[in-house]
Amino acid sequence: MTIDFPKRFLVETWGCQMNELDSQRLSSQLMQEGILPTSDPQQADLILLNSCSVREKAAHKAYSRLGEYRLLKEKRPGLLLGFCGCVAQQEGDQALKRVPDLDFVIGPARVGELRQILRQRLVGKRVVATGFPDAAERNYDMDTLSREGTHKGMVTIIEGCNKKCTFCIVPSTRGPEQNRPLDDILSEVRHLLDFGFREIELLGQTVNHWRDPATSADFAVLLDRVASLDGLDRLRFVTSYPRDFTQEMVDQFARHSNICPYLHLPVQSGSDRVLKMMGRGYATELYFDLIERLRKSRPGIALSTDIIVGFPGETEQDFQLTLDLLSRVRFASVYAFKYSPRPGTAALRLNQPEVPLEDADRRLQTLFSLQREIQTKINQALVGEVFEVLVTSLGKSAGTLTGRTPCHRVIHFEHDTATSYIGSLIDVKVERAYPHSLIGSTVLPGWPEQIDRSRSSLPIVS
Ligand code: SAH
Ligand code: F3S
Repeated sequence: MTIDFPKRFLVETWGCQMNELDSQRLSSQLMQEGILPTSDPQQADLILLNSCSVREKAAHKAYSRLGEYRLLKEKRPGLLLGFCGCVAQQEGDQALKRVPDLDFVIGPARVGELRQILRQRLVGKRVVATGFPDAAERNYDMDTLSREGTHKGMVTIIEGCNKKCTFCIVPSTRGPEQNRPLDDILSEVRHLLDFGFREIELLGQTVNHWRDPATSADFAVLLDRVASLDGLDRLRFVTSYPRDFTQEMVDQFARHSNICPYLHLPVQSGSDRVLKMMGRGYATELYFDLIERLRKSRPGIALSTDIIVGFPGETEQDFQLTLDLLSRVRFASVYAFKYSPRPGTAALRLNQPEVPLEDADRRLQTLFSLQREIQTKINQALVGEVFEVLVTSLGKSAGTLTGRTPCHRVIHFEHDTATSYIGSLIDVKVERAYPHSLIGSTVLPGWPEQIDRSRSSLPIVS
């Protein structure tokens, strides 16, 4: 059967920001071939599924979505179906066996090869591109990337992960760490700022473990260099590893006002015993001390974290310590998950008793309700404050806009929506607070002329 060159593509994305950026890279390569995006699967003649395998549920979902797309393919045999992301890496050749009409498989480290893989398919070959080539052999294609949205540009600075957290599958799906050179990162950020993005988000599984391959400059140096670039309103980065967060990195929060007063710092558990079994390489004391120094460096910084409940061997007492940690730190938000056993991970061999599902469920709900109380109180204390809000979308109800405060809180407010303000900065006063969002009103009716834009982009260099 001859396969026609596709005209319309659709990329479906699951998982983290790295996957989101990978999907943008996949899309840009297709657009350079003259293939146009569509959000309607019925119109697409090339569908890519970018999968996530961090928890079992997400991995199962990948196969069930593939199953649904196969049904489309039965009706339209010319439809091309590509399997990408972390489950694709994990499965490799197996995926072609399990899903016989799959056209190709691409792991996260080989996203840059999509065009060649597609060409091979058109001459009859079903390629499985997995594994981890050296950074120098990887095709980043950054200058030609089709970035989604109008306000935030994501930039990968380090790929893969060298940590050995016993619950985590990421090191085997994204491979060992590969650092991108400082100059490449700076020129990509410059390019995005020139294009008009106001916010830059630096990405990595352990973003603060980055080092320049040539000079060994560390993440504190990179933050300093990026934050000093002209025209950068907001700088964020995700995900930081507590043990790798040096005082020089902490100091950058005081030095540059355009580094957002927000940090995602996964702790996973409040029990040192569990942290040890998780192989995290730090105890809660290090975490508490780091948070104190961060709050000293940037008073009012909003912190968020990841927590796993029901890790094998976790007792009620261990779980209580996690609740105590939440009460002590008072996070602005918490992402909490039930432990999910992953193939090939060391936690499977710990020889610890499994936590019964009902207990894990109950612990998760207890944690959520405590966090909800904490968040409600924190957010209520913000009523009356004015934030510079970056508009990210139209609001759900007519005549409203939605945006993010510098501390990354979601805020909805009424505004003239006849003009597109998406990607603009607007001063908004908080009127009401909910656990997960704020409601506000604009403070300067004559916006945008009256806003002093220099405020957020000038670094405070001491
Ligand atoms: N450094 C990564 C972490 C990837 S996994 C990052 O960029 O976020 C994201 C979160 O998923 C982890 O912090 C952890 O809390 C959770 N997680 C990872 N493996 C898990 C598992 N097996 N079961 C439950 N949650 C898990
Ligand atoms: Fe996973 Fe730990 Fe790395 S959570 S991504 S192994 S830092």
